[in-house]
Amino acid sequence: MAATDVVRPGAPPARERAYEELEQLFAGVDAPFALVDLDAMWSNARELLGRAAGRPIRVASKSVRCRSLLAAILETPGFHGLMTFTLQESLWLHGHGFDDLLLAYPTADRTALAELARIETERPPILMVDSVDHLDYIQAAAGAAGRPIRVCLELDTGWWPFGGRLKVGAKRSPLRTPGQAQALAHEIVSRPGFELAALMGYEAHIAGVGDRPLDRRLQGHLIRLMKRRSAAELAERRAAVVDAVRQVAPVPIVNGGGTGSVHTTRREAVITEVTAGSGFFAPLLFDRYADFSLTPAAMFAMPVVRRPSGGVATLLGGGYPASGGAGRDRLPAPYLPRGLRLDPQEGGGEVQTPVIGAAAASLRIGDRVYLRHAKAGELCERFKALYLVRGGEIVDEVPTYRGEGRTEL
Ligand SMILES: Cc1ncc(COP(=O)(O)O)c(C=O)c1O
Repeated sequence: MAATDVVRPGAPPARERAYEELEQLFAGVDAPFALVDLDAMWSNARELLGRAAGRPIRVASKSVRCRSLLAAILETPGFHGLMTFTLQESLWLHGHGFDDLLLAYPTADRTALAELARIETERPPILMVDSVDHLDYIQAAAGAAGRPIRVCLELDTGWWPFGGRLKVGAKRSPLRTPGQAQALAHEIVSRPGFELAALMGYEAHIAGVGDRPLDRRLQGHLIRLMKRRSAAELAERRAAVVDAVRQVAPVPIVNGGGTGSVHTTRREAVITEVTAGSGFFAPLLFDRYADFSLTPAAMFAMPVVRRPSGGVATLLGGGYPASGGAGRDRLPAPYLPRGLRLDPQEGGGEVQTPVIGAAAASLRIGDRVYLRHAKAGELCERFKALYLVRGGEIVDEVPTYRGEGRTEL
């Protein structure tokens, strides 16, 4: 899967595929199956690189969950290093030769911490910390490691307007101010078992919130306003935090952003790299951003197994809701053929998913419906393999994390 011709700057965005085209390609394959359209994925990669405008992009492994795709992406100039999501996963990837790993979420896995302390390597995965408790926990579990354990300090990016009466943002780190960050930095450097290697702040309420909600113009306007205000406040605070922390240690990595904010986060001078993952697969939630558009790349096909009535075709399984505040936007959606939607009573089901709409009447038993997941990598927890499509052919079939026997989160 050579990445060379993949990200030709200036190439036009990939087009969306037609139902007939996919049906022809997959005529000999029985559903359920999942696929990634490489033309769309590389087109999305180009889009991300364009918005990053030269800032290196760290790839969020949770949003891809397929080792061979991650490796191919990392061969492409502009992408470097992985943002991982569990320590077991990080160690596994490290064992497979991935060596620039930033674990973005604190770990309480004592077994994996003990293993981390034992591995012989120049660049072990970096662990996330936001408190002295984290340091104590790591120290107790890892014991006396041969070399310092590298840690990343996480900054809270939330927006707290009206004197803090409103708090917008994910509940992640307690560290907000330069003083708080500097105090923890002092604590880290005072402990011989640790090295302060990075600083991260993920603005989930900017990067992960679509600002073009369907049929809700006013809400979209308010979200965009919130994002602008919050980004301005964060830029100032993050610069002050980095400055305060660098008075203690020369922290080389300052990571921020996600697919939805690559183009704004990268403008901050202190940012050394941005993160993106979902943008490669372009799941449903990423259809609803005002500033950029991606091409759907990952989808799954389910067979029609019943026709309960003229206007309904019932698919096998398909109820793969995405994580997050439960709402309709977390459900998968029929994609191809066009003109289908979920039945509002049943949604996506464990064993069956009825679809309705204009195209339902012409579907027959054994026909396939292609659906898109609301989020990116979670799809890979449902399938052992991904068919890779390029041009007019299926070029490969590669295992997902799950296909390699891994169940992360
Ligand atoms: C720490 C962190 N950084 C970046 C991201 C952005 O990932 P993506 O580009 O897949 O939205 C996430 C997503 O949840 C995250 O948790």
